[in-house]
Amino acid sequence: MIAEALGGSGRLAVLTGAGISAESGLKTFRDPGGLWQQYRLEELATPEAFRAHPERVLEFYNMRRAKLSEVHPNAGHVALAALERRLEERFTLITQNVDDLHERAGSRRLLHMHGELKNVRCVRCAAVVPWTAALRLGDRCAACQGQLRPHIVWFGEVPFFLDDAIPAALAGATFLSIGTSGTVYPAAGFVAAVKAQGGLTAEVNLEPSANAELFDLQVLGKAGEVLPTVLEAIGGAQAPA
Ligand code: OAD
Repeated sequence: MIAEALGGSGRLAVLTGAGISAESGLKTFRDPGGLWQQYRLEELATPEAFRAHPERVLEFYNMRRAKLSEVHPNAGHVALAALERRLEERFTLITQNVDDLHERAGSRRLLHMHGELKNVRCVRCAAVVPWTAALRLGDRCAACQGQLRPHIVWFGEVPFFLDDAIPAALAGATFLSIGTSGTVYPAAGFVAAVKAQGGLTAEVNLEPSANAELFDLQVLGKAGEVLPTVLEAIGGAQAPA
């Protein structure tokens, strides 16, 4: 059903959240045992927290960056990369995730709207630098000596690609949301934006998300179990470009 509905349409925009990486062993934020159940986001994920307790904030992201070397893409990530190879420029993947599992699975048409753990950024000149080690307070920008910070969008900051690539990806597209609770805006508003343009919307999630009523179709289940079949069917049903 979902495949027939999504197949044959022009372009597909996919939004992923922490749920797609859960089966790889990365904690989500709001599920039982999730990061924001364990830690207070106000103390770790805001510019104010970084000013007040920079070492504590760096440690949180250092821990999460280090964890990336212990995990691998799962069948959900792999299925999305396979669909991208089939649809090419008709496909865009927007992720709220700051892990690198999509790119390690082969995704290339990928927008990290909340930043990336594998990069850091200069607070002075905004240069973005690849970073795999722990980030320390004394680590400085090679270009201007400014303090380096995690390349992460904190609460109160503006996500990336909102002015250009994301509206372009959503315009006239079918929209598929995967593994996100639908509680953090602006990403949680993409489904309404697509619906307002008359686009078809679908979600794959373990449980109905906060904005479940805005989706035309819903598949409840684990992304790694459900996506290989669903996305293979969507790819097969797509009309040739
Ligand atoms: P959440 O933790 O809010 O939601 C994860 C969603 O994934 C929940 O709806 C789960 O039911 C679902 N889920 C869990 N395991 C799953 C699985 N195996 N397959 C499919 N779904 C599964 O995470 P996000 O919605 O991604 O922002 O959170 C959005 C943003 O809030 C994050 O990007 C982060 C956080 O604060 C920043 O840090 C800026």
